[in-house]
Amino acid sequence: MTAEAMKDQHSRTDEGQVTILPRIFLGTWDIRTRKDADRAVTSAVKTGYRGIDTAACYENEELIRSSIDGCGIDRTELTVTSKLWNNSHGYDKALQAFDESEKKLGSIDIYLIHWPGPVPGFLETWTALEHLFEQGRVKTIGVSNFMVPQLEILLDRCRIRPMINQIECHLWYTDHPLLDYCRRKNIAVQAFSPLSAGSGLIENETLRDIANRLNRSPAQVALRYLLQIGVIPIPKSSNPSRIAENFHIFDFRIPNSEIEALCGMNRLVRTNKDPLGWFGQDYQ
Ligand SMILES: NC(=O)c1ccc[n+]([C@@H]2O[C@H](COP(=O)([O-])OP(=O)(O)OC[C@H]3O[C@@H](n4cnc5c(N)ncnc54)[C@H](OP(=O)(O)O)[C@@H]3O)[C@@H](O)[C@H]2O)c1
Repeated sequence: MTAEAMKDQHSRTDEGQVTILPRIFLGTWDIRTRKDADRAVTSAVKTGYRGIDTAACYENEELIRSSIDGCGIDRTELTVTSKLWNNSHGYDKALQAFDESEKKLGSIDIYLIHWPGPVPGFLETWTALEHLFEQGRVKTIGVSNFMVPQLEILLDRCRIRPMINQIECHLWYTDHPLLDYCRRKNIAVQAFSPLSAGSGLIENETLRDIANRLNRSPAQVALRYLLQIGVIPIPKSSNPSRIAENFHIFDFRIPNSEIEALCGMNRLVRTNKDPLGWFGQDYQ
């Protein structure tokens, strides 16, 4: 692992609590077989990843746990995220959802509300996450798919501030006002679908030209761009050579002139749902 990869991100809460996060996580959405899970987790850990992202709705928490158990490093060296699904909003349901995920994963380091859904549902849910944090059952609590209006409501009413917001973020969709807001509020940002979820980003001509000039792959430049704008990427792959390729982004810098060209690719088109307009199936 390079020296830069070893430097962690820090997110500081109001209470002076310091959250230390790996600079890159392995995404696991759509990893559904033992073979894929073992291959992905083992090669990721061997390459140097120390963060793994899953969620109740990926229906792979048990698989991921058993791959972690067999991956050859101590569980305490890893930071594992899970997320509460839309059908578990509300105080009691949230605690129950955490219990179920914790049972499947063994332990959870980061717990996030996956989608905000309607207010006031997420405020009650957040109270349950605060409780879990105070009980020491989880080290880091946060949200996912929260936009500025939803964060403002939460920040206004919470006792413990969210430490992370996991959002869609890549070269074709970078919401700079939301990133600036999170930065000002000391909320670390994790980028999901950092390669645009396979929707063609890495075939983009501008990206390919820049990657050629830097002697890197388009995926590496797309991920490095996220690091340089202060965001933690969560690339998903179950292919060992792509898992290694996606990790080797700590030993080069994209010059500012090329960053400007990359910023010009931002077309603000999502691959996933709009959190302000999608209240999701399964809300009850
Ligand atoms: N919070 C949320 O609401 C939310 C939403 C979506 C995703 N997520 C999280 O974020 C993670 C990543 O997002 P994502 O899975 O949507 O998309 P992604 O990481 O942007 O893209 C994954 C796709 O890119 C391919 N790929 C990976 N590395 C590659 C490389 N170096 N070259 C070429 N192709 C490559 C993968 O195929 P192979 O596997 O075949 O390599 C897969 O098809 C998820 O797995 C999940 O953990 C969270």
